[in-house]
This record gives sequence, C-alpha cells and structure tokens, in this order.
Amino acid sequence: MKVALLGATKGMGRSLARQMAARGDTVFLLGRDAADLERSACDVEVRAGVPEGRVAHAVCDLERPETFGPALAEAEKAMDGLDAVVVTAGLFATQERLESDAELARRLLTVDFAHTVAFCEQARARLLARGGGTLCVFSSVAGERGRKPVILYGAAKAGLTRYLEGLDHKFRSAGLRTICVKPGFVTTGMTEGLKPPPFAGEPDAVAARVLTAIDRGKPVVYAPAMWALIMLVIRSLPRFVMRRIGF
Ligand SMILES: NC(=O)c1ccc[n+]([C@@H]2O[C@H](COP(=O)([O-])OP(=O)(O)OC[C@H]3O[C@@H](n4cnc5c(N)ncnc54)[C@H](OP(=O)(O)O)[C@@H]3O)[C@@H](O)[C@H]2O)c1
Repeated sequence: MKVALLGATKGMGRSLARQMAARGDTVFLLGRDAADLERSACDVEVRAGVPEGRVAHAVCDLERPETFGPALAEAEKAMDGLDAVVVTAGLFATQERLESDAELARRLLTVDFAHTVAFCEQARARLLARGGGTLCVFSSVAGERGRKPVILYGAAKAGLTRYLEGLDHKFRSAGLRTICVKPGFVTTGMTEGLKPPPFAGEPDAVAARVLTAIDRGKPVVYAPAMWALIMLVIRSLPRFVMRRIGF
C-alpha cells in the first residue's frame, strides 16, 4: 500500500508510520516542519528496517491550506501512486485555556475542523481520481457528546466525525473507504500533564488496532476498544445527568 501520513512526526501517527513501513507499506510523511520530517523519516527507516532514503516527505501545514495540494501531489509523484491518506495531525488545548485565549480557540477550530476537512477534500478527490482508496482520519470520542471539559475541541471533532460519516455514505460505492478513528485517552505528547484515566491507551496498541481497521475497511474505530462501551453509556445519559457530572 502507498500511504501519505499527515501528523506522523509524533504520537499515534508516528506509531502508525513505523508499523506500516515495517510490514512493507510505502510511507510518505507530511508535516509542518521540514527538519522534524527529516528526523522522522530516518526514525521510520531505522525502526522498520527500510533502506536509507526510502521514506520521503513534504511540508504540509494544517494552518496553511496552500500547502495541501503541492504536498499531496509530491506524495503521489514520489510513490508513483497513492492508495491511502492518513490524518493524525491535530491540535489540543484544555477548555480553560481555550476559554481564556480566543485566538488559540480560533486556531484550534480551524485546524481540527475547517482545514482538516479542506485537506480531506483534496485527498478524497485524488483518491477517487485513481479509482478509490482509503482515507483514515483521527477524530475523537470528544465529539460524541457536548462535554464540559472539551466543549470547543469536542465541537471541532464532532463536525469532523459527521463529515467523515457523510463521505463514507456517499463515496464507499465509488471505491473510497473512509475510516473515522475515535481515540479515547491515549498517552502521547498531546495528553502530557493530564491525569490519565485507568483505561488510557498507548500509541503503539492504538496504531495496531487502526491498522487492522484500515485493512478491513471498518468505517468507525474506537481505540482503545473499551471506549466504545464508555461512549455508549455517555451517549445514553440524559441531559440533566451530563449537567451534573464533570466527564
Ligand atoms: N492523545 C489522545 O488522548 C487523543 C484522544 C482523542 C483524539 N486524539 C486525536 O488523535 C490525533 C493524534 O493525536 P496524538 O495524541 O498522537 O497527538 P500528538 O502526539 O500531539 O501529535 C499530533 C501531530 O499533529 C501534528 N500537527 C499539529 N498541528 C499541525 C499543523 N498545523 N499542521 C500539520 N501537522 C500538525 C503534530 O506535528 P508537530 O510535530 O509539528 O507538532 C504532530 O505530528 C489528533 O487528531 C488528536 O486530536 C488524541
């Protein structure tokens, strides 16, 4: 499989890039910092036992939509094709911080929703032009319900989840497999400083689960799996209970 990954310099994206390369997929890294991408490409090559110089990369910044087209075109050209696009890139900040910093809130809503969708639209068009493929995007369980600790971040992820659902409904029959990943709490740089719940996940285990979902074309995947059950309960709670609890 020829895969372009946006956000593979850290966290779950890095784990996915390593695992994909290790099993023989051709990976192309997209990210916002050229030096970071170079280091990440070397890391993937060494850990996956891929020959030096085989993992290519291009700058693609979710705050700069003008980078989307050229970055995807470079990936397609370098790999002589494109079978899948994976988006793990995203921004997080606590609700308290976002409430006191309107500019950060605007940036987060733009990166996690509007620009992620704009990027996916370009990826979708390229994949469909080749007869289909896989578009796998990381949303969040935070988008399942309006929740006090993640009002703004959750709103962006809720919009993203609905967009991905619509894509899957419309384009699956045309060959585009859209996969919406809904991680629960996973210990990465994004959650540094936050108290992990007892059912927190690790990036490598999440990546392995996502890889299976990609191979099977599963439209929605909760990771760790336990979060499917947790969110089933949360979705069923009446509004007056949600007002009382801090979850
Ligand atoms: N960790 C969790 O508990 C959790 C839970 C639910 C959902 N998620 C979602 O899962 C995804 C992966 O999360 P993670 O925990 O692996 O995050 P992470 O370790 O913080 O990695 C995030 C990645 O996004 C990239 N990124 C940030 N802003 C970008 C921009 N403007 N343009 C391009 N790339 C950008 C980062 O690149 P730099 O290296 O340049 O910063 C980094 O590679 C995210 O969408 C996140 O919202 C995470």
